[in-house]
Amino acid sequence: MLLHLDASARRESFSRKLSSVYAETWRAARPQAGYVYRDLAAHPVPHIGEAWTELCDHILERQITDISRYHEAARSPAQREAWAVVEPLLAEVVAAEVILIGTPMYNYSVPSALKAWLDQITFPKMSLEGRSFVVTSARGGAYGPGTPREPYDHQERYLRDFFRGHYRVRDVTFIHAELVNARLDPDLAHLREQHERSLAAALREAAR
Ligand SMILES: Cc1cc2nc3c(=O)[nH]c(=O)nc-3n(C[C@H](O)[C@H](O)[C@H](O)COP(=O)(O)O)c2cc1C
Repeated sequence: MLLHLDASARRESFSRKLSSVYAETWRAARPQAGYVYRDLAAHPVPHIGEAWTELCDHILERQITDISRYHEAARSPAQREAWAVVEPLLAEVVAAEVILIGTPMYNYSVPSALKAWLDQITFPKMSLEGRSFVVTSARGGAYGPGTPREPYDHQERYLRDFFRGHYRVRDVTFIHAELVNARLDPDLAHLREQHERSLAAALREAAR
């Protein structure tokens, strides 16, 4: 199954375009494999609350690493309410072979809509081994190797470190459309062509 998430606050979005191209290609190649779509910007998941932290503490204290046993942590009415939010989100992730995330860079990092989803579905010592993550991203500037802004890329670095360090997933692919701000910012007008090349390459890679 392909789990497809989008996190851009806008409809006319480059990260959405790239994720939709990727999803179309993937689904055409595996028509029977199943597909779930979730728009984290249009239908945000709530931030975690106190009862969620109690679920998390219980899971850690009891060393529950089997995701199918997490429900045991929901003992009080408030905890059951918190679990009712987590359960469908986590079930989608567990059922997925590939988790595709269309996300912009916001303030050197990821949108809070995506972070809220990650906070909801992540528990201590949780493994998602065997799955793949694909991230299609758009960003206003350029953050590739050797660029002045490379050290400020807390979007790819954060997600890559998190998927690898916490979920133990090594199969992580990033497809970036860069310099999107060159379409708007007169100071970056000279980089418009470079942006167009980055976008075209990202679209080609997503379609592959
Ligand atoms: C709230 C906000 C914060 C942004 N922060 C950054 C940033 O830190 N670095 C950057 O290169 N671009 C930044 N941008 C530009 C976006 O990354 C760019 O517009 C991108 O295309 C948005 O993705 P989308 O086209 O999928 O909506 C920001 C845009 C917004 C709306």
